[in-house]
Amino acid sequence: MSLLFSPITIRGIQLKNRIVVSPMCQYSSENGLATDWHLVHLGSRAVGGAGLIITEAAAVSPEGRISPHDLGIWNDSHIPGLKRITQFINQQGSIAGIQLAHAGRKASHHRPWDGGKAITSGEANGWETVAPSSIPFSEVDPAPLTLTKEGIQNVVADFQAATRRAVEAGFQVAEIHAAHGYLLHQFLSPLSNQRTDEYGGSFENRIRLVLDIVECVKAVWPEEYPLFVRISATDWTEGGWTDDDSVALASILKSKGVDVVDCSTGGNVAHARIPVGPGYQVQFAEKVKKEAQIMTGAVGLITDANQAEAILEQGQADLILLAREFLRDPYFPLHAAHDLGEDIAWPLQYERAKPKMHK
Ligand SMILES: Cc1cc2nc3c(=O)[nH]c(=O)nc-3n(C[C@H](O)[C@H](O)[C@H](O)COP(=O)(O)O)c2cc1C
Repeated sequence: MSLLFSPITIRGIQLKNRIVVSPMCQYSSENGLATDWHLVHLGSRAVGGAGLIITEAAAVSPEGRISPHDLGIWNDSHIPGLKRITQFINQQGSIAGIQLAHAGRKASHHRPWDGGKAITSGEANGWETVAPSSIPFSEVDPAPLTLTKEGIQNVVADFQAATRRAVEAGFQVAEIHAAHGYLLHQFLSPLSNQRTDEYGGSFENRIRLVLDIVECVKAVWPEEYPLFVRISATDWTEGGWTDDDSVALASILKSKGVDVVDCSTGGNVAHARIPVGPGYQVQFAEKVKKEAQIMTGAVGLITDANQAEAILEQGQADLILLAREFLRDPYFPLHAAHDLGEDIAWPLQYERAKPKMHK
């Protein structure tokens, strides 16, 4: 059997295959509520056979949203809409995961199809953003407020409360978003963190917020459920967060009970030059896996079954996350199985369309 379609058990949860829907913002919520769009969008990928489906970044507080249209999990009113989605995903034999997020200085922006620009706090639907230091993401963005010690404690409490709601909503995997230049990445990287207290300066201080959050999330997250952390394994910028920092962080995360490090890159610096190409971030999943001895997810321009299978065969990662390919093809796993000669179950409703195997 191919590795891509071999089940994998992480803690008490078995994924039927190694194919994961990578988190993708849909900017289709009002007041953080999941809608029919989310049910159909995430549900289609469950019908399509993905082992694990991770929601888009779900904001742990209203000010942690990238845009006013982000999905949220800061209020109990968010639970029923999410529960409907996790139940549907489970009915298809897939596992539902949620990405818990705070956008920090990258919050309060228009959604991409409305231009994507910053919404200042004086404008309708805008708010004051927060960050480790008052450094804007780019020269066209407003400077964020520096988080106070109390503000930091509130963020940690927000992640914990969101985790409790995630359990109630039926999620069985949680992913803490510490990548792409959002709040936690802003703390990790010396390019955005110039604090002089215990949350800035040394590596140990810059990783403190992530570790505080991991600890508080673990305190309310069931022992049998996997916990992922998504990192940007490099800032691709001189003086920034490096791949060696990622290995060091991943080793500590492992000791704190994190199960999978999902290895993306970039997003914290507007001018970073990123050598984008097929599988361009796989090297980081491999390095973190080998050097920190922790399970990793590979993501970034993985678009093909054989490419995904080769990553697993070469021991570069344990899970394969796809984003844009899943937008092109919600049934990617069904097609990938055919490409790899695997005879997997199709939804009964679709069986009459299943191609014959020529083994
Ligand atoms: C529409 C869209 C929305 C995204 N939203 C998120 C998100 O909410 N959280 C996140 O960690 N990454 C997000 N990403 C990044 C993807 O998860 C993924 O890391 C990236 O697109 C590279 O994978 P790909 O080449 O398979 O698309 C988004 C990507 C796309 C295309």
